[in-house]
Amino acid sequence: MLAKAELYRTAARVLSTLDRTGWILRYRWGDRRLLEDVILPTLDRDPAVSSALLVGCAWYTRHYPRLLPRTHVLTMEIDPAKAAFGGERHLVANMVEIRQHVAPGSLDAIVCNGVLGWGLDDACAVEAAFAGAVRCLKPGGLFLLGWNDIAPRNGCAPDTIAALEGLEAVPVPGLGAHSLVALERNQHCYQAWRRPEEDATPAQNTDQTPEKRRASSAGG
Ligand SMILES: C[S@@+](CC[C@H](N)C(=O)[O-])C[C@H]1O[C@@H](n2cnc3c(N)ncnc32)[C@H](O)[C@@H]1O
Repeated sequence: MLAKAELYRTAARVLSTLDRTGWILRYRWGDRRLLEDVILPTLDRDPAVSSALLVGCAWYTRHYPRLLPRTHVLTMEIDPAKAAFGGERHLVANMVEIRQHVAPGSLDAIVCNGVLGWGLDDACAVEAAFAGAVRCLKPGGLFLLGWNDIAPRNGCAPDTIAALEGLEAVPVPGLGAHSLVALERNQHCYQAWRRPEEDATPAQNTDQTPEKRRASSAGG
């Protein structure tokens, strides 16, 4: 475990040095490009989104917080060794226990890509993790799911997950569709939902970053 943590820390240091030269080592597949070039930047431009949680960290996601420069980003990863690939604000935590770490109604968006079926597999654990995530969203908050509709990753398909039932299906940011298969080979699918607005209170939207406050008051 210590050896793994040291290996990841070294990898993170080397990658960060490369990143600073402007040579970002990353996956070039179409599903990643959609996430990195379209979905995350669109989320960042949304004046309603000031805070976001990104679940699951790996060497190829280390730069994701930087794709959301106007958003307060928190990262979460169950594997302590992978903290090296997390953002400045990082939680070593199991998403199943998200409510022990994140205040209810505190997040504008949660991006949960490649976690369902990639460690978060058991149906009860999935229900607990997603129900907890929904509780941590502000009313109107966005839950973005990336998952693979292919065995063995699709043991728990989203349309069987009760925790997602009360949510409103909405277009994935930047894609104009609620559900989109981004890569045929691995059936990597992006889907988005919103927590219903009905229990919204004005006080819950006061923590925008200055850039986003300016954008919303300018009507953008
Ligand atoms: C395939 S990687 C995906 C990483 C990244 N989110 C992405 O966009 O590809 C899955 C990661 O999710 C983490 N993970 C799995 N189950 C988790 C859980 N219950 N809570 C937090 N992280 C978890 C794994 O440790 C692993 O690092």
